[in-house]
Amino acid sequence: MIEKKITTTFYQTDFSSLNSEEKDLVNRAKNSLEAAYAPYSGFLVGATVLLENGEIISGNNQENVAYPSGLCAERVAIFYAGAKFPNVKIKTIAITAVSKKFEIKDVISPCGACRQAIAEYEVKQENNIRILLHHPDDSILIVNSVSDLLPFMFKSKGLKNY
Ligand code: THU
Repeated sequence: MIEKKITTTFYQTDFSSLNSEEKDLVNRAKNSLEAAYAPYSGFLVGATVLLENGEIISGNNQENVAYPSGLCAERVAIFYAGAKFPNVKIKTIAITAVSKKFEIKDVISPCGACRQAIAEYEVKQENNIRILLHHPDDSILIVNSVSDLLPFMFKSKGLKNY
């Protein structure tokens, strides 16, 4: 048996150190919190997607009384991007959150299902997606690819073109 390791690279920074394009994405994600529909969790999430053609799309979490029927902010945003601009690559996603119920200790990090959904687009477009994770205290964590958040991701090789 051989032991092997996968390393994850991430960057810790803060809002003031971002370039203006990335500051704009984080600000838009923050603004989109207003339209989050989270009456059950009180946890509002905003996600903003920058596409290669310069288009910017924001989404937020949309809950449902039948809990699993709701959808996370990240998937609302990337599915809308995929629906509106199916052949345009996603460059960056900025994500932020606020809670009405508790203090958020760490930056919000996409749930497993959202990581898998982002991974699908990364594989499809054959280009990495940069992910900015913003904390309400303005600290930021950055990964340059969803594979840094989801090692051993399930890929569609073999399922496509059946
Ligand atoms: N949520 C997101 O929108 N994104 C995540 O990455 C994690 C969780 C939402 C789902 C639900 O509306 C609320 O946060 C609490 O889980």
